[in-house]
Amino acid sequence: MKEQIKPLAEQRFEDEIRLLQAWDEANQHPKPPRWQLSPKAVVRFICGGEVNGQPIQCKYFGADRQVEVAVATLTTDRALLLYGPPGTGKSTLSELLAAGISGNSQLIVQGTAGISEEKVLYEWDYAHRLSKGTDINALVKTPIFRAMEDGAIARVEELTRIPSDVQDALITILSEKMMPIPELNEVVMANRGFNIIATANDKDKGVNDLSKALSRRFNTVRLELPTDAETETQIVRSNIDKLCRGQSLPVPTNTDAEIRRVVKIFRELREGQAGTEKLEKPSATMSPAEAISVVSQAINMAAYLGDNPQIDASHIANGLEGVVVKEAEDRQVFRNYLDRVLKTRAADRDLEAALRAIV
Ligand SMILES: Nc1ncnc2c1ncn2[C@@H]1O[C@H](COP(=O)(O)OP(=O)(O)OP(=O)(O)O)[C@@H](O)[C@H]1O
Ligand SMILES: [Mg+2]
Repeated sequence: MKEQIKPLAEQRFEDEIRLLQAWDEANQHPKPPRWQLSPKAVVRFICGGEVNGQPIQCKYFGADRQVEVAVATLTTDRALLLYGPPGTGKSTLSELLAAGISGNSQLIVQGTAGISEEKVLYEWDYAHRLSKGTDINALVKTPIFRAMEDGAIARVEELTRIPSDVQDALITILSEKMMPIPELNEVVMANRGFNIIATANDKDKGVNDLSKALSRRFNTVRLELPTDAETETQIVRSNIDKLCRGQSLPVPTNTDAEIRRVVKIFRELREGQAGTEKLEKPSATMSPAEAISVVSQAINMAAYLGDNPQIDASHIANGLEGVVVKEAEDRQVFRNYLDRVLKTRAADRDLEAALRAIV
């Protein structure tokens, strides 16, 4: 049997969704039209907790309030923009919201600099148009088109990478809830339940800023890097568990300690401070996403190439160097960090020695 690398959220958490649906029914929670779960159940689905004595896994770590605001926005006629630094779980939260609300997280438009209006609205099957004429069957529906028809959530990833004129194609959809098709002299009306979740990265700021007209149609929820090391460690740990499960690899017993150390290093470099020591900051992005990749790479190296299944400091060192040293100047910044911080901590000497060999 073939196995998917990353099953969709709606498949992965099918059992939880069923449990939450039963909870909604038993308690008659109010539900917006076409939502498969009530807003209350969507928040529980994402933030975790318990329902009828059964655990619901926490899938997005952060302030529950942010998730509540995001869910509440989607009950209104305003669209939702998840905005913030790279690797802070914007796409993850967008996937979870779509899976929880519509049971379908796959109505996605990936924003790129080269995307055309046709990929956002609709395209034509030219072979059909030539042989049978321009009718509705010649239309190739985009994910947004299908979401409008189905009354579902459509996702637009990296909205600010999309050129401004193409972004503006969303204005009519969001304000009038319809899409004109002049070639057929028709309009497609959005069904209730339709909405859009967009994500945008604040590092891309200025690439293609949102027009005022479009930004007025979105409620923005800002996702930040985790405020404390404990939450960041939890984010990394839960993702490592998931990755190891997916690869049928055991989680090494020293994983927690190594995650803590990587998270600590990233936080110190990001903040430019270790204890009372002021540090220069490297240009690289060091979000939970990078910490996950450093630790999972180390686990894979230990499992497939090492002599024992424990995570080795040299494996962590390789991953760290790859993340932190993105520009030539970062190398000196990282060397200074080794001298001024890692060297002074007895517990980090092994990592310091491994890093010295490569930085
Ligand atoms: N707060 C969080 N809760 C749960 N997982 C998180 C969180 N922050 C980051 N992650 C994890 O980090 C990884 C990257 O997250 P994701 O791709 O959603 O980030 P993003 O904000 O969309 O980044 P980008 O701006 O680069 O697109 C995922 O594995 C995700 O599960
Ligand atoms: Mg993303």
